[in-house]
Amino acid sequence: EQLLMEEQLLTGKHVLVTAGPTQEALDPVRYLTNHSTGKMGYEIARAAKDMGAEVTLISGPTSLAVPAGVKRISITSAAEMFQAVKQEYETQDFIIKAAAVGDYRPEAIAQDKIKKAGDVLEVRFVKNEDILAYVGEHKKAQQVLCGFAMETQNLIENATIKLKKKNCDMIVANNLRVEGAGFAGDTNVATLIHQDHMETLDKMSKYELGKKILQILLEKQKQKGQA
Ligand code: CTP
Ligand code: CA
Repeated sequence: EQLLMEEQLLTGKHVLVTAGPTQEALDPVRYLTNHSTGKMGYEIARAAKDMGAEVTLISGPTSLAVPAGVKRISITSAAEMFQAVKQEYETQDFIIKAAAVGDYRPEAIAQDKIKKAGDVLEVRFVKNEDILAYVGEHKKAQQVLCGFAMETQNLIENATIKLKKKNCDMIVANNLRVEGAGFAGDTNVATLIHQDHMETLDKMSKYELGKKILQILLEKQKQKGQA
């Protein structure tokens, strides 16, 4: 009964989720990345599918299986994720950016393996495009954009700045240092930052949090329709 209701909730909706880390190559054998496992994004994708949506998952390298019925596009670098998002976002109702995108990439990828020489290696990094900010700038009136923010300090302040700067409808903020939150676990402790208020949620499974986020985004889209 419950499942049937949820199945109908997102029928006809298109949901785009980004998940996982990006990898920025330094040379043919090395790269820079982060601790993202992709679990949060994959659980959102699975929840969206269970709620009846058409789901596209743009994923960095993870060890996770693609949820049944979800279309996965696999990418490696932030630049590739940006290309994939640009390709896919226009037809989406909800765009949920759970990926941990690398902020910088090495300025150049060495053709050959960098050999050990000297006591110090200096690498120059250049900034990657901010994908969330790009979508925030280009989103259509009916599209709902949800970003994530992982912080280790000043969670609410920093996440609120991101919400405004990137023109998001909501930011899911989590503090890496809180018990039950973080990259690898199956649970999360999130604070939802809305444009005019915020709410801190109890610890819950990443799947349950995914469902909650999707229900809220649906409400936000309905409100836009009435505006
Ligand atoms: N994000 C993005 N493209 C980037 C960097 C981040 O789309 N190049 C998105 C992430 O997917 C996330 C949100 O922006 O949804 C916030 O990411 P976060 O790393 O917390 O914020 P930044 O703006 O990168 O700021 P900082 O790392 O300095 O906290
Ligand atoms: Ca960042």
